[in-house]
Amino acid sequence: MNNFSFQNPTRLIFGDGMIASLSKEIPAGKKIMVTFGGGSVKKNGVYDQVIKALEGRIVTEFWGIEANPTIETLRKAIALGKEKQIDFLLAVGGGSVLDGTKLISSGLLYDGDAWDLVKKGYYPESVPMGTVLTLPATGSEMNSGAVISRIETHEKYPFYSNYPVFSILDPKVTFTLPDFQIACGIADTFVHVMEQYMTSPGQSRLMDRWAESILASLIEIAPKIKENKTNYDLMADFMLCATMALNGFISMGVNNDWATHMIGHELTALHGLTHGATLVIVLPGTLRVLAAKKQGKLLQYGERIWGITSGTTEERVALAIKKTEDFFRSLGLHTRLSEENIGDATIDEITRRFTERNVAFGEDRDVTAQVAREILISCK
Ligand code: NZQ
Ligand code: ZN
Repeated sequence: MNNFSFQNPTRLIFGDGMIASLSKEIPAGKKIMVTFGGGSVKKNGVYDQVIKALEGRIVTEFWGIEANPTIETLRKAIALGKEKQIDFLLAVGGGSVLDGTKLISSGLLYDGDAWDLVKKGYYPESVPMGTVLTLPATGSEMNSGAVISRIETHEKYPFYSNYPVFSILDPKVTFTLPDFQIACGIADTFVHVMEQYMTSPGQSRLMDRWAESILASLIEIAPKIKENKTNYDLMADFMLCATMALNGFISMGVNNDWATHMIGHELTALHGLTHGATLVIVLPGTLRVLAAKKQGKLLQYGERIWGITSGTTEERVALAIKKTEDFFRSLGLHTRLSEENIGDATIDEITRRFTERNVAFGEDRDVTAQVAREILISCK
C-alpha cells in the first residue's frame, strides 16, 4: 500500500425531507448566491424547497449553468458574485452546477480571469459552498474536483479547489431524472470505481473489496431502477454509491488510472457527448488495449464481479471485458464510436492534442498519445 494522507471534510446530509434543514448549515448573515442549471429544479419542486428553507436569508440567484459547465457562463456568475459581495455559495443541481460553482467559489477570490485557474488546475482559495444534489453520478458533492469547458476552443479540463462544506442528498429529488441521465449516472459511477480499482492486484484487500461492493451494488440495482426509477430505496442506494465512488474512500493507498476519463473528456469537448456516454465507449477500449498489463486485476474482477472461474487466462480476461461492455449496453447506452458517428478525424484530433500536450495518463503514466490512439481505434 502506498503512503497516504486522507481527509474529507464534507458533511453529508442524507434522506427524505433533508433540504428543510438547509438554513442551519449556513452561518447567519452570509450573503448567499444560489446557483442553478437550466430549470429542472423548478419542475420537480426542489427550487421551492430550497427557497422555503432559505426564508429570511440574503439570497441572490444565478441561473443557467449548463451541462459541462463553461467558463463563458461562469465568468458572468463570478462578476455578479463580486458585485453582490457574495460570501457563501449554494449549488443546487447535478454535477455540472456543483462543478461550475466550485470554479465560481475560487473565482470570487481571484483578481484575474477564472480560466487562468482552470489552466493552473488547482486553486486553494475559495468562498465556502454547500450543495443540494439532484443527480447521482459525479461525486462532486463530496470531492474537491470540477471539470470546466471552454466553448470557444472546445477544451475541457479538470480543476481542483475545495470540498463543499455540506451536501444534502434527498433520493426523492432524483425521481424526475430522464432515463438517459440515470444510465449515464450509473455508468459514470461504475467507471469512477474502475479508474481507482482496475490497476494491479494486491495493493489493498480493503480498497479492493470496498470498490467491488460498489460495482456489485450497481450491477444489482441497475435493472431494478430501469423497471422503477421512483423506488426510494433503490435510488438511495444509487445515490450513496455515486458519492462513495469518488469521495476518496476507495482510493486510500492505491494507484489510480483515469486514462478513460481524460480521453472521454476530449469526446465531450469535441462532440458535446454526455460525460457518462463517453466513458462506456472508452473504458472497454482501455481494457482491451491494456489487457495484458491489467491481467491480474481483470482476473480478480472477472471472478468476484462476474463469477468467471473457468477458461484460459486470455478467455477469462476477454469475457470480463465483454461482460463490462454488455452491462453498459444493458443500461441502454452506445459503446462504440461509430454509433455516435465519430470517426477517424476525431481520433486524429485527439492524438494531435495529446501529442501537443505531451500527456502520460494511467497508473504508470504510460498511456501516451499513441496509446490513447490505439484505445480509440479499438472503440470504433
Ligand atoms: O440543468 P438542469 O435543468 O438542472 O437539467 C439537468 C441537466 O440537463 C438534468 N437534471 C439534473 N438533475 C435532475 C435533472 N433533470 C431532472 N430531474 C433531476 N433531478 O440533468 C442534465 C445533466 O446534468 P449534469 O449536471 O450535467 O450531469 P452530471 O451530474 O452527470 O454532471 C456531469 C458533469 O460533471 C463532470 C462531467 O465532466 C460533466 O461536466 N464530472 C465531474 C466530476 C467531479 N466533480 O468530480 C467527476 C466526473 O468524472 C465528471 O467528469
Ligand atoms: Zn466521471
